[in-house]
Amino acid sequence: MSAEVASTRKDDHVRLAAQQQGAADAGTLGNGFDDVTFLHHALDGIDADAVELGVHIAGAAWPLPIYINAMTGGSASTGRINRQLAIAARETGVAIASGSMSVALDNPSLLGSFRVIRDENPDGFVLANVGIERSPDDARRAVEALRADALQVHVNSVQETVMPEGSRAFSRWPASLEAIVAASDVPVIVKEVGFGLSARTLTRLRDLGVAYADVSGTGGTDFVRIENSRRPDGDYDYLVGWGQSAVACLLDAPAERPVLLASGGVRTPLDVVKTLALGAAAAGVSGGFLSTVLDGGAEALIERLGRWRGHLTALLALLGAATPADLVRTDLIVDGATAAFAHARGIDLPALARRSEALRPVHDDSTRDSTRVLTRAERNPQ
Ligand code: FNR
Repeated sequence: MSAEVASTRKDDHVRLAAQQQGAADAGTLGNGFDDVTFLHHALDGIDADAVELGVHIAGAAWPLPIYINAMTGGSASTGRINRQLAIAARETGVAIASGSMSVALDNPSLLGSFRVIRDENPDGFVLANVGIERSPDDARRAVEALRADALQVHVNSVQETVMPEGSRAFSRWPASLEAIVAASDVPVIVKEVGFGLSARTLTRLRDLGVAYADVSGTGGTDFVRIENSRRPDGDYDYLVGWGQSAVACLLDAPAERPVLLASGGVRTPLDVVKTLALGAAAAGVSGGFLSTVLDGGAEALIERLGRWRGHLTALLALLGAATPADLVRTDLIVDGATAAFAHARGIDLPALARRSEALRPVHDDSTRDSTRVLTRAERNPQ
């Protein structure tokens, strides 16, 4: 593919993704987040001063359980967007991923539009991004070009299917991934691009030696719609809605799995907290942050991330969680289409709705009988 065609595609993706964010139904189609609510416990709150938002991911301390997820690079205008995103990452300390670097591996004249991420953010946590079909040597070159701290490898078979110039040959993907993982000097994070990672996929990733997986589910940026509108006759419109939401993926994740990250339709600090309560270590945002920098530049994203930091602290205090990891003790009610999905997959939703009881021994079954006198040990648990 020529550098010109590759650059035009990158500009198309940004334009069409931004249009989706502005659409009336943005973030609502198949969005599992609105199917999840926290059971409110009025006396469970703690002091905001006691909340610590930092997480440890891919060998590094992240100040917030949020990251700017993979988007762009590969043209002059996407290079300018990467610059804005990188400045916001530098000023807030959040991790940032580049868009797929495949175009620059094929046309090194385009590398500058990706390198700007590291140039603007020399000490931050930066993730390089390549497609799963690239060679281990290409993956290493991508990491070197950004002096990246980790490597995202994206899996995007649905997007390729609808993309006019897309691939239709997927059988080599597991072997290709295994080779990339074996040769990589930095942690590898396998990510979807908005269609979700199933329980079987997560098990296979674990077996292939992958340490981190970003489930990137449906309900946010929709690459079926983006690629379909790049087709002359838009004939794949019936595939809109394919895949699982991030919420469904997290609910269905097997016990033996890579460390989970979540993205796909994350709109608010509450959505972030829901991913953490469902077992994710951090949540990524692409489309929403893209709109912020397109509208107001780096300053607007810095301001937004600052506001999210404050809200995350407030929400954890409200939920009685001193750290993001403590959120896995919260009680979650799941309904709507996500409950139907959970039912079909045999997921125990009643247990999720009372899991705080199992983890707080004083609230065991016997103490729910109000006529029974508590023993001293029950009143004063050690
Ligand atoms: C993306 N995404 C993406 N992912 C990836 O691994 N490599 C890439 O090059 C791109 N390119 C890209 C361009 C644009 C403009 C957008 C908005 C997104 C997918 C992205 O990382 C994420 O998985 C999905 O967008 C879902 O998250 P949001 O957008 O709903 O927050």
